[in-house]
Amino acid sequence: MSEVILKVEGLTIAFRNRKESFKAVENIGFELKKGEILGIVGESGSGKTITSKAILNLLPDNAGVTDGSISFLGRELSGLSEKEMEKLRGTEIAMIFQDSKMSLDQVYTVGSQITEAILTHEDITRDEAKKRALTLLESVRIPNAPRVFDSYPFELSGGMCQRVMIAIALSCSPKILIADEPTTALDVTVQSQILDLLKEIQRATSMGILLITHDLGVISEVADRVIVMYAGKIMESSTKTELLENPVHPYTRGLIRSMLKMDTDLEVLYSIDGVVPDIKSMPEGCRFSTRCPLVMERCRKEDPGIISVSPGHLVSCFRSVEIVRGEALE
Ligand SMILES: Nc1ncnc2c1ncn2[C@@H]1O[C@H](COP(=O)(O)OP(=O)(O)O)[C@@H](O)[C@H]1O
Ligand SMILES: [Mg+2]
Repeated sequence: MSEVILKVEGLTIAFRNRKESFKAVENIGFELKKGEILGIVGESGSGKTITSKAILNLLPDNAGVTDGSISFLGRELSGLSEKEMEKLRGTEIAMIFQDSKMSLDQVYTVGSQITEAILTHEDITRDEAKKRALTLLESVRIPNAPRVFDSYPFELSGGMCQRVMIAIALSCSPKILIADEPTTALDVTVQSQILDLLKEIQRATSMGILLITHDLGVISEVADRVIVMYAGKIMESSTKTELLENPVHPYTRGLIRSMLKMDTDLEVLYSIDGVVPDIKSMPEGCRFSTRCPLVMERCRKEDPGIISVSPGHLVSCFRSVEIVRGEALE
């Protein structure tokens, strides 16, 4: 059994205004193990980003963790001071985002930004840090690293900037890399190259990678295990192979159908009817009940909770057993 580096239990995150508070994420739990890529997938508005922000203690002012725990190597993170958390971010837990071009400072060269990142957590000379920065640029497969070192972010493509961001994230050899939609802004070929790079990094280091995306195609390329989120809750989780071969939750099945149809040239793309409900008007029972093709009366009133359909395969659906047996027809 490989070591659990991040453990999230019963996590609930709420947004509040002057009068009310709304749960955007409710009672979610998962574990990230050393050396694995754990994918979190779900449509926009599922709560993926605020979950990753809660882990990093970067929630906006109007949001907070109202229940549950987040522990990193057995150490509870939610009680840490901002100073302690800052130390952890960028040394033990690194992150990359969708808008890599925006995340880089446009007025400094790439090389100076990586060098500075190295110098903030290592006691080495500037020359040594520069050498290390060049090696890092090479390790993220940047051709002609010395030229890129002297370039400004605006002179580089989106894919190159994302590689630079990954190099900065790796500069401190973190134990966890949180990548929130790291390839969403990139075109398909570049997207594949970045995913290959993440896979290569995962193999070469023992880092655990939390890969967050709305795109099941991305997950199917690189993840080891997958969590499917919908409207702030976990609908299904299992290994990637099991999820793609034996999906159970109607939501997961819908996501897979939309992904498969996109791979073919069919003119009419399948998509799940409707949209993710607003946090201010969540359905009472199962949150997917308003869009579910297999909905029953009970689903609208009661929360299905989560059950195990096979070892390591969890599903939150009243109809899971019927679906597994092939008795529920859409
Ligand atoms: N700053 C905010 N204020 C109020 N609600 C927010 C804010 N940011 C996100 N939300 C709500 O929280 C939910 C989850 O958002 P988010 O984590 O960004 O989803 P995802 O990353 O899966 O697209 C959404 O319903 C969104 O409307
Ligand atoms: Mg997001």
